[in-house]
Amino acid sequence: MIDLKGEIAVVTGGASGIGRGVVELLVQCGAVVAIVDRDADAMAVTLEGLGSAPEVAAFVTDVTVLDEVHEMRRQVLTDLGTPTILVNSVGWDRPMPFPDTDPAFWKEVLDLNLLSTLTVTHEFFGLMLEQARGGRIVNIASEAGRIGSLHEALYSSAKGAVIALTKALAREGARHAVTVNCVCPGVIDTPLYRSMPDPHAASRVRAIPMRRLGIPEDVAAAVVFLASPGAAYITGQVLSVSGGLTMVG
Ligand SMILES: NC(=O)c1ccc[n+]([C@@H]2O[C@H](COP(=O)([O-])OP(=O)(O)OC[C@H]3O[C@@H](n4cnc5c(N)ncnc54)[C@H](O)[C@@H]3O)[C@@H](O)[C@H]2O)c1
Repeated sequence: MIDLKGEIAVVTGGASGIGRGVVELLVQCGAVVAIVDRDADAMAVTLEGLGSAPEVAAFVTDVTVLDEVHEMRRQVLTDLGTPTILVNSVGWDRPMPFPDTDPAFWKEVLDLNLLSTLTVTHEFFGLMLEQARGGRIVNIASEAGRIGSLHEALYSSAKGAVIALTKALAREGARHAVTVNCVCPGVIDTPLYRSMPDPHAASRVRAIPMRRLGIPEDVAAAVVFLASPGAAYITGQVLSVSGGLTMVG
């Protein structure tokens, strides 16, 4: 088990799916974890599942609302201190043909997938650069951002931008012991995935070389590795966790 005692982690979207899997593994590894999510009910269920561990603090925040993000930062710094780990897991999409999309939908998808990552990272990146122990940032992007995804033009664009943001910030953080990496989940069985059209189609599983959907724990293992001291010399990288669905060189 990776030892993260003494680390302070912030996980956005930590009340469900992949984010929740990351929170659970970070807590098991000994980190103090701030769960940041806008869904208070899901947050309560997640906290109950963790057995109200004292190492966990909940911040009900909509990460697309700047004032709420500023307030969350203030509270995290007061209650826990400067984070050493940031995992950006908030994201959302509703697949549809590009001609059917409209500017309101474009804004919603870009806000939830790109701007959320940008704003939360902006709140903590400077502090991480200043602290001697540096930091670890892991962004949850998607294979859609690497290879494009049918009927997900906006989502693919936003996730591609998250990958580019990751690499640019990796260069900025490199001399300050701040690493920035990206994990691209394939098809992971979460509430978001189950909201997609026909999630249980056999063809989806047949397309995956490992012949199963991923689970949040599959992604969490990769995220926590990238957040660990052992990953100190890894930055600007994009790691697919997809059962071999895509093998990008
Ligand atoms: N599930 C998959 O197959 C899959 C594949 C590729 C990438 N991803 C990415 O993984 C990440 C997590 O997805 P998931 O499947 O776990 O989704 P999920 O819907 O299960 O969890 C997302 C969480 O984010 C929270 N959230 C949404 N909008 C928010 C906001 N504005 N402010 C604060 N919290 C907000 C939700 O309340 C929820 O708890 C997303 O970035 C998604 O794009 C998922």
